[in-house]
Amino acid sequence: MMYSQILLATTLILSLTGVVFGDGQHSGSRDRAAARAARKAQRAVTEDATYWNQLGQQLLLDELGKQRINSQAKNIIFFLGDGMSISTVTAARIYKGQKAGKTGEEEQLYFDRFPYTALSRTYCTDAQVADSACSATAYLCGVKTDTDTIGIDANVEFNNCTTQNDPATRVDSVMAWAQAANKGTGIVTTTRVTHATPAGTYAHVANRDWEDDYAQSFDGADSTICDDIAEQLVLNNPGQNFKVILGGGRAYFTPRTAQDPETGAAGRRRDGKDLIGQWVANHPTGKYITTRDELVNLDVAGTDSLFGLFSPSHMEYFLESDTANNPTLEEMTRTAIQMLQKEANGYVLLVEGGRIDQAHHDGRAKVALEEAFQFDLAISAAVNLTDPADTLIIVTADHSHTMTINGYPDRGNDILGLVGYLASDLKPYTTLNYANGPGYVNGYLGGDRVDLTNVDTTADTFRQPALVPLASETHGGDDVAIFARGPQAHLFQGVYEQHYIAHVMGYAACIGPGVKFCDVPRSRY
Ligand SMILES: *[C@@H]1O[C@H](CO)[C@@H](O)[C@H](O)[C@H]1NC(C)=O
Ligand SMILES: *[C@@H]1O[C@H](CO)[C@@H](O)[C@H](O)[C@H]1NC(C)=O
Ligand SMILES: [Zn+2]
Repeated sequence: MMYSQILLATTLILSLTGVVFGDGQHSGSRDRAAARAARKAQRAVTEDATYWNQLGQQLLLDELGKQRINSQAKNIIFFLGDGMSISTVTAARIYKGQKAGKTGEEEQLYFDRFPYTALSRTYCTDAQVADSACSATAYLCGVKTDTDTIGIDANVEFNNCTTQNDPATRVDSVMAWAQAANKGTGIVTTTRVTHATPAGTYAHVANRDWEDDYAQSFDGADSTICDDIAEQLVLNNPGQNFKVILGGGRAYFTPRTAQDPETGAAGRRRDGKDLIGQWVANHPTGKYITTRDELVNLDVAGTDSLFGLFSPSHMEYFLESDTANNPTLEEMTRTAIQMLQKEANGYVLLVEGGRIDQAHHDGRAKVALEEAFQFDLAISAAVNLTDPADTLIIVTADHSHTMTINGYPDRGNDILGLVGYLASDLKPYTTLNYANGPGYVNGYLGGDRVDLTNVDTTADTFRQPALVPLASETHGGDDVAIFARGPQAHLFQGVYEQHYIAHVMGYAACIGPGVKFCDVPRSRY
């Protein structure tokens, strides 16, 4: 189309949908001015020049007093907020503040206070926008690879079972490095423990969907030739040596003949293997648990290793969880740290807030923000249980999502609410929206945009509007943030490739094949 034709078509569409031209970004500016004056009259001005100057000076002094911790990290706790984009961090911060009755924007998440931050470039070898499999391989194994593959490099073809077994293509994770240095290792997640992020610590697979032999059968993959992910966790290194495994996914470890203790549903495995029984047999001084009670009352000192599966599949979203029976991410994190603190040579622990991502895929921003809030509580627990002098804590995400914080909402406006001013079609709109996903209702060509005037946009079940219709909202390709504290945290101050994170972990803890803090003559640094 010529430019003039595009203009004509656009004008037609806009006039059909009743859009008014020329009102610019501050639509309804006269109404807005009146509303603003009314609000101003009601509110005492506390945030004046004195307030901001004092705050600014305090922030400056804090920064000037910041000290690098240039020592070896005995322990590493790696927190991965799946799909925790920067807009998710900002919105979760406001959500947290508003839950506490504040305006919200000024609130701090616990990890907002970490002294060092950086950006992570998340693209994969074959994709501009990452998935959780290639990105896990990057930040856990130090190697970028193709989407949907885990623990193998880009030489492996997606779905090719034979090449999955070629040792030349395999890449080890920080967990293998840590075990070689006699450190304890563990994983905690709210998803199935066989899902892409936790699998990045122990699996080597040509397709992330191969969580059990049943899933493999749909792709014609032979599980007798290439192990599925659940088998790799229980039977192979480094998974079989994990001191702590906590999350969901029971059905992936049990045969069709087994009944789930909670739901009574059959297991998924077609090969008849009972991998939970196998784990128990292999860990005579370990403990397998399925309930919150068993977790919070665990005899930590008397338990050598711990395998907790709290759901047949993913654990419930916090907002939908029966928290009397299901542990929170914070509770799982506490127990995991207490278990690993028994390790003389230290430990490496992965904690995943795994369902921030899935709530975004569902177009449910409130659920995603609550998952991020729960993730922040787990980080707070880790901060309280550890010493920054010997424990490096890293908080990051694997990839972004398409949620934006938009419009010109007033200070303190409900982050889950309507912006407060009308759009050009004279209907209200939400502050949080998605570029695509299941929240698409109507459109610009086929019909009117949905009218949210009488809709409770703060309901747990509400889906934020989306521009492009998709059954599942997609990931985003923008950079994600890295927050760090503890030994070598200062190595995160810039814009990095995502796989750099694993190299920093190896250096800081003196593990793995790369350069190590312990090997480097101190005078050079
Ligand atoms: C898997 O990869 C190998 C080695 O590149 C190749 O020989 C084989 O044909 C591939 N198998 C399939 C099913 O594509
Ligand atoms: C960690 O300690 C701080 C300060 O005492 C407290 O406010 C916070 O609630 C604690 N976090 C957790 C998860 O217990
Ligand atoms: Zn995802």
